[in-house]
Order: sequence, then C-alpha cells, then structure tokens
Amino acid sequence: MTGAGGDVAAGMAAIVIAAAFGGPDVLSIIEEPAAEPGPGQARVTLRAAGVNPADYKAYSGAFGADPARLPVRPGSEAAGVVSAVGPGAPGPTGPAGPVAVGDEVIAYRVSGAYATELVAPAAALVPKPPALDWAQAACLMVAGVTAWHLLAATDVREGDTILIHGGAGGVGLMALQLASGRGATPVVTARPTKHGFLRELGALPVAYGPGLAGRVRAAAPGGVDAALDLVGTDEALDVSLELVADRARIATIAGFARGFREGIKVLGGAPGADPGTQIRDAARLELTRLAAARALRVFVTQTFPLDKAAEAHRAVMTGHTTGKIALIP
Ligand SMILES: NC(=O)c1ccc[n+]([C@@H]2O[C@H](COP(=O)([O-])OP(=O)(O)OC[C@H]3O[C@@H](n4cnc5c(N)ncnc54)[C@H](OP(=O)(O)O)[C@@H]3O)[C@@H](O)[C@H]2O)c1
Repeated sequence: MTGAGGDVAAGMAAIVIAAAFGGPDVLSIIEEPAAEPGPGQARVTLRAAGVNPADYKAYSGAFGADPARLPVRPGSEAAGVVSAVGPGAPGPTGPAGPVAVGDEVIAYRVSGAYATELVAPAAALVPKPPALDWAQAACLMVAGVTAWHLLAATDVREGDTILIHGGAGGVGLMALQLASGRGATPVVTARPTKHGFLRELGALPVAYGPGLAGRVRAAAPGGVDAALDLVGTDEALDVSLELVADRARIATIAGFARGFREGIKVLGGAPGADPGTQIRDAARLELTRLAAARALRVFVTQTFPLDKAAEAHRAVMTGHTTGKIALIP
C-alpha cells in the first residue's frame, strides 16, 4: 500500500503497555503494519524519541490505573524523516509551512513516539534544526516548552535572579539556559557532583537539602525574584515561599496539591493546572530558532535502543539523571 505521496508502508515496531499497569517490566515491543497518513497527516520514519518522566507515570499508576486507558503507547516527542503525506490538496501544512516527503522534522505533541514509524497531524511537525542531531532534536520539545511556559508564567526578565529547583534535569537545563538568554541569573539546585557542569553553563549551583535557604541567600545576596519548582518536594516549595515575596512569581510543575494550597502557579496537564497550550505551542518555533542559532543546547546524556525502553525508564525513575535520555529505533 502506498501513501498519497511517499514510499510503500512497511512493518513497524512500537513499544506498548498492553495488559497491566506497573513497573517497566510491563513494557513490550510489538510489530505491526505501518499506518497510512490521512488528510492533514504525515508518516514519519523515526530516528529518535525523547524519554520523559511522564512516559513511565502513564503506566505506573501515578495518573490512575483505569484499565480502559490500556493499551498505552508511550512517547510524546520524536524526530525523523517524513516518509509519506496524506491525500488532498494542498497537502498537510504544519506551523512552519507545508510538510513534504523527505523533510527532517520534530514531532510534538504526539502519542506513540516509542516506535519506528509514526503517523502524526502536520500541526505537530516542525522542521528539525540542522544544528541538532536526531537524539537532541527528539528531546528538545517537552523540556523546552515546559521551561518556556515556566518563565512566561513567572514573568522572568532581564536583571532577575531566579531560583530553579532541579536544575540538572531535562527541564532544568532548558530553564536555566532560557533564563540566561533573557538576561536573568539562574541559581539552581543540584547534587554537588553536577555543580562544575552547571557553572560552565553560567548557573550558580547550590546543593539541595537542609540549610538550602541560607545557601541560596549566600549565592544571591541581592535576593530572589522568582522561583521554579521542578521537583515537588516540601523543601523546594518552603524555600521558594520563604525567599520570593510575590506568589505569582513562583511556579511548580511537580508539586500540584501543595501548589494549589499555597496559591502559586501550577502548570501542566493535571486537573486545575494551567496547561499553557497557546504559550507552549508558540514556543516550539522559538525553541527551534534558538537551537538553530546554537543559542540553546540539548544535553542528551544517555541513549538506549528502542527495545531497551524499560532500561531507559529505570534510569529516569532514579530521579537523578542529568539532561535527557533518548531512544534510538
Ligand atoms: N507539569 C508539566 O507540564 C511537566 C512537564 C515536564 C515535566 N514535568 C515533571 O517535572 C519533573 C521534572 O521533569 P524532568 O524531565 O526535568 O525530570 P528529570 O530529567 O528526571 O530530572 C529530575 C532532576 O531532579 C533533580 N532532583 C532530584 N531530587 C531533587 C531534590 N530533592 N531537589 C532538587 N533536585 C532534585 C535531579 O538532579 P540531582 O541528581 O541533582 O538530584 C534530576 O536531574 C518531573 O516530575 C516531571 O514529571 C512536568
């Protein structure tokens, strides 16, 4: 079978959680025919997929364990080459223009990105910046748009000092670079073994744990204007509330229940949180522009073959990786 434009659809492999919620052992790999793109869609031969904590939370029970949600097809971001486009004129068009066979693209936000082939709406496809390799391109968007939303929601601007809890993770490394790009000074919490790396990126690292507020005051004697909580611990929220006077300039993407109680900004897909859909959608092309200009780097510190997705999840579940992990089909 042939798509309206493109190559013959062959078989594909995909990771699924078919029958039960649980740990990474419930992941399995299946083979099936690749789907054909419909109108307004394209099929992408994937070269890499980004791994995110939400991918394991989707089947761990953290978001509920309703059997009706199975099967789960994990993966919300990927990068690859358009191999077919759906029928109809003028053809699928994405945020940056027409999408054609052979285009190198980033796919976000999609589902089922842990696969060798993916059919996606063209609205989810943006051009891959040549400055990024496949793994970096696959890992740009989830962390990038989340960091962008965090900075927008807390109105981070030139001259600010901003505290980022969890500065060495996927979102943290994006947030600190974007904050620096706006002319703000990022003070970031991380394990001491990561401080040298974070200093090289222009951040002021401090160790989390008892005494954190004092260490942040020492690093930022002029005070802290805004705080971003990427870890959801009581410590991160306590210190943010102690050091930042204006609760509208404190945001969390992980401490939902307490975040609502404290009246700070709660961002993301949880019920009652601000999904920031327009801000995040618009951020995609800004992020690719910055990456193309080499003004934003994507730090992929580990890659795993697609059929080792469970190992990738065990790594992310430690909660202490640095930057991003990618799967390579
Ligand atoms: N709401 C949303 O829209 C949204 C979007 C994306 C992600 N998230 C959530 O945000 C969180 C972070 O995502 P991510 O992709 O950046 O995760 P990640 O890449 O797994 O990074 C987690 C980081 O947290 C650090 N960390 C662990 N315990 C810490 C503590 N007690 N204090 C300070 N830092 C600590 C770790 O560094 P050390 O080695 O230094 O401990 C690690 O680098 C996850 O819970 C994720 O599910 C939410």
